[in-house]
Amino acid sequence: MEIIVADHSGFCFGVKEAINKTFHAASEIKDKKIYTFGPLIHNSQVIEQLKTLGIESIDSVEQKPHSTIIVRSHGVPFSFYETAENHHIQLIDATCPFVRKVQNIAREYYLKGYSVVIVGDPKHPEVIGINGWCDNRAYIVQNEQALDTVPDCEKICVVAQTTITEELWDYITKELEHKAQILEKFNTICIATKDRQTSCAKVASQVDAMIVIGGRHSSNTQKLVQISKKYCENTYHIETVEELPINQLINMKKIGITAGASTPDWIIKEVINKMSNADQHNNEMMNMMEEIEN
Ligand code: F3S
Repeated sequence: MEIIVADHSGFCFGVKEAINKTFHAASEIKDKKIYTFGPLIHNSQVIEQLKTLGIESIDSVEQKPHSTIIVRSHGVPFSFYETAENHHIQLIDATCPFVRKVQNIAREYYLKGYSVVIVGDPKHPEVIGINGWCDNRAYIVQNEQALDTVPDCEKICVVAQTTITEELWDYITKELEHKAQILEKFNTICIATKDRQTSCAKVASQVDAMIVIGGRHSSNTQKLVQISKKYCENTYHIETVEELPINQLINMKKIGITAGASTPDWIIKEVINKMSNADQHNNEMMNMMEEIEN
């Protein structure tokens, strides 16, 4: 069995930064309770690890005045900062710089009088956050149907949730050309997402089965699964090594692996080790059978 790991897989720059800031805060701040605003990343194993350090997730600043709150890489709405200040909260801001860029564009063009369109998932915290930088007045377009909610406008500024596919971006922005006299397009899909999607497609197109490791709620992992399925029908999405469908994989020759931006390296290693061990065991059994037959 040959195992090919995609060049770009696992923790992205923004997630690494958020995790480093959180562990640093845990070691430095002893006099106050630390919370994250929403789960720090979409990975239940890491969330459990944080709980052992006493760091829990909350969804309302008002609940915890005078505490320390970590803003995760997805970012938060503009008004969040004022609310935090009013409640005497010490903020540790781990908003990814790529997300901050989208927030700034949305705000700048909203204040210039543009209608703002965000191509992305309306329920995703990153998109909710970006919308909060233009007074929650953005049109959020996740698919073809949602395009109908965007009226004809004089000026539209369109940005992307950082983890969508280029394919969705191209399709939606092309359609928006019919709806605006002036269309300012900012393809804000982040470089880490592009790299992960490109290397996922490259590996998926040359293997018999593909394993995508990542949280079920992780947007970028779901996109990797979609892309992988296009090139490899035997695509399996797993969160942990326990979910590895070893019986389906054992007789395959080439297996590809990729992982979402919030998947720690140690989970990727566990998956590789389990497959290698199963392969070795399988080979030993085959050799034994051959010897018996001869
Ligand atoms: Fe940032 Fe891109 Fe990761 S926006 S959090 S580097 S997926």
